[in-house]
Amino acid sequence: MNSNWWKAFNLQHPIIQAPMAGSTPPKFVAACCGAGILGSLGAGYMTADVTRKAVREIRELTERPFGVNLFVPENPERDPDVIKAAFGALRPYREELGLPEELPALGESGFGEQVAVLAEEHVPVVSFTFGLPDEHSVLRLKGAGCFLIGTATTPEEAVQAERAGMDAVVLQGKEAGGHRGAFDGEDRFLSLGDLLAETDVSVPLIAAGGIWDAETVRAALDAGASAVQVGTALLVSEESGANSLHKEAILGAADGDTVITKAFSGKSARGLANRFTREMAGAPIAPYPLQNGLTKPIRSEAGKQGDSGLLSLWSGENGWRGEGGTVAEIVERLTGGAAEEKI
Ligand SMILES: Cc1cc2nc3c(=O)[nH]c(=O)nc-3n(C[C@H](O)[C@H](O)[C@H](O)COP(=O)(O)O)c2cc1C
Repeated sequence: MNSNWWKAFNLQHPIIQAPMAGSTPPKFVAACCGAGILGSLGAGYMTADVTRKAVREIRELTERPFGVNLFVPENPERDPDVIKAAFGALRPYREELGLPEELPALGESGFGEQVAVLAEEHVPVVSFTFGLPDEHSVLRLKGAGCFLIGTATTPEEAVQAERAGMDAVVLQGKEAGGHRGAFDGEDRFLSLGDLLAETDVSVPLIAAGGIWDAETVRAALDAGASAVQVGTALLVSEESGANSLHKEAILGAADGDTVITKAFSGKSARGLANRFTREMAGAPIAPYPLQNGLTKPIRSEAGKQGDSGLLSLWSGENGWRGEGGTVAEIVERLTGGAAEEKI
């Protein structure tokens, strides 16, 4: 295994800024690249055109390599009764926020078109979550020189990622903020430590989940990871695109304040417990990504009205420990101030 693979991307530290769909504007990605780590655009919710525009904007802001992350599409059955029940369960929130009783458009994924854009733009690193890309996409991206990273939540998923042609694998521990990347059967919610101990593949491993300071970076590298992927600790930076209510909620939270919920999107994700996660426990929910489409108008209006009780406040278990500040300050905390490599 080439544990120094990340040096090919001109990084000063073996740290990847986690792609965080909806919260990674080009200026944030470029700030991460500028701080010596790999900036990544979370393009999961973008169309192909918006993805291309964002890639070009990043290139205007930095000359350094960067990554783009895509959601591998899932096509759940669109059972009208299930959708109706899930839509009905959200009525009180629509009424409270003054939203119309209109079923939102539950659009299709633009994955194939996005792959074409990333290949045409020769994006240096392309990562995936929620599954593995098909063979055609892998060949197309590799042919364009892209380094491919898959996401696994079990040792078995890591083996599948390697077999699918991934050049490296992110091991996402249960501590991680945001959506679970699980794609093979029941989610087992393994800790990052267990994942690192049990995974046996020959491609480099990238550790994700609960990493927030130099000590947790060091522990993951000592346990066999060749790099780490950091989400929440960077989400609270000044440059990130997260709503300020979201950043304040994380920085003001306490140990044990996060929960795993499917209420916002139909897929398990870790975030701060709030009114929505509490009230929706046990309510009918449509499968991912349909539930995501149903709650989108509610989340977006709640954000405008300053109501954090109805927002998806994604956060890792250690998010509350972070201190915020600029990306450069946070990277300095993650590296203990080491100029290069010596974390
Ligand atoms: C707000 C937020 C959004 C996320 N969105 C994505 C995403 O779009 N794609 C992805 O692969 N991972 C996503 N993740 C998961 C991260 O890649 C990573 O696994 C996680 O942030 C690591 O845990 P940490 O938050 O404790 O650092 C997201 C995480 C957060 C906190």
